[in-house]
Amino acid sequence: MIAFRHDAERDTPLVYVLRGPAVGDMTPRLGCGREQCGACRVLVDGTPAYACTLRAGAVENRHVETAAGLDSPVRQALIAANATQCGYCLPGIIVAAEALFRVDPRPSRDAIADALDAQLCRCGSHPRVLAALTALSDA
Ligand code: FES
Ligand code: FES
Repeated sequence: MIAFRHDAERDTPLVYVLRGPAVGDMTPRLGCGREQCGACRVLVDGTPAYACTLRAGAVENRHVETAAGLDSPVRQALIAANATQCGYCLPGIIVAAEALFRVDPRPSRDAIADALDAQLCRCGSHPRVLAALTALSDA
């Protein structure tokens, strides 16, 4: 739960509050700021949300999770496979995949691809990400 230091923080996009000095979680990245890259995604009550456009005040008294706190098989599988290259997109990918695997521990490749549709990567790492998560689903 986020403790706001002053009212103005409630109108600040969540990504800035999470990355700011009061929280200091640098895993939600600020990419496009327009819900177009997925780098900022966090889980709010288990559902992926864009922290770049979501008012921080909107998540008051709600459960917010970031990739930093998701030491799950999904995160471990992606890291073990060196699935991404730059690490900038990785937290958002972890968040999006985690949301899927929580509701479906054995998702199909198509379901994984659908869940990651909003996660952009300019390095071409999507095939490795898909392979790592498909292997996890098949394990
Ligand atoms: S920074 Fe939020 S979607 Fe790109
Ligand atoms: S691996 Fe992160 S943007 Fe490509």
